[in-house]
Amino acid sequence: MEMVLYEATGSIGTITINRPKALNALCSQVLDELNEILDQVDLETVRCLIVTGAGEKSFVAGADISEMSTLSKEEGEAFGKKGNDVFLKLEAFPIPVIAAVNGFALGGGCELAMACDIRYCSENALFGQPEVGLGITPGFGGTQRLARIVGPGRAKEMVLGARNIKAEEAYRIGLVNAVFPAEELIPAVQKLAAKIAGNAPIAVRAAKKAMNEGASLPIAQAVVCEEKAFGSCFATEDQKEGMGAFLEKRKVTGFVNK
Ligand code: CAA
Repeated sequence: MEMVLYEATGSIGTITINRPKALNALCSQVLDELNEILDQVDLETVRCLIVTGAGEKSFVAGADISEMSTLSKEEGEAFGKKGNDVFLKLEAFPIPVIAAVNGFALGGGCELAMACDIRYCSENALFGQPEVGLGITPGFGGTQRLARIVGPGRAKEMVLGARNIKAEEAYRIGLVNAVFPAEELIPAVQKLAAKIAGNAPIAVRAAKKAMNEGASLPIAQAVVCEEKAFGSCFATEDQKEGMGAFLEKRKVTGFVNK
């Protein structure tokens, strides 16, 4: 692996898109490496994943325009599918994924951040889907996920107007959860990741799955996803420990992931 780095420290894994000279643009190799790394994450020990970009300027400045410039119609569709498949895998990843958006998050970069569960960004972050200015549509989920996160009106303004927005506006419209000075971003993301990793892992996974699966269903079906998740937790040792600690007025001694 060279264009995507992976490091696990305790229960937190960090994926870094590592093409700083190209502002971490997503070429096919990056997508392939990201895909492989997701397969290699040790889900026995890692309980939360962070995704960020190398360098101080950019999270990901989009899909690689040089690589895309000569694609045919069929190749374009296949490239879109390649990105979508990896981002769907990330979105459905069993453990929570936090995007640490440390600069440009344009096109495929905004789409990568949106495939994560939670987004924190630095004050210098810039979000946008500038594709129509390049003669294409967003291709890695931007026409779909942005509207689900910020609503159709704001999403259409950004996509159809190719209007980039700064960190504060991204926060105001709910595209990011919080904004930090650049040097505080990673510590803040790590703190949240540690908080998530300290909770009952089976319950965390089940809650993420229920929230994701229910999001596209009518509410009466969506709550069934929750009932299954809720019920499954009662077969775990972690539920015995979590509720036992409350009733015995003591701290949880540790969740065992069983
Ligand atoms: N693809 C390929 N290379 C890129 C790139 C991209 N998306 N973004 C930046 N780079 C490269 C530049 O070509 C440049 O390379 P060289 O040094 O070899 O010339 C290097 O990164 C540094 O970029 P700039 O010199 O342009 O840096 P800047 O600070 O002046 O500008 C920027 C930064 C505003 C982000 C500008 O680079 C830019 O506009 N990039 C393209 C953003 C974009 O349009 N993204 C959407 C791509 S389409 C897409 O993503 C489709 C999809 O949905 C899947």
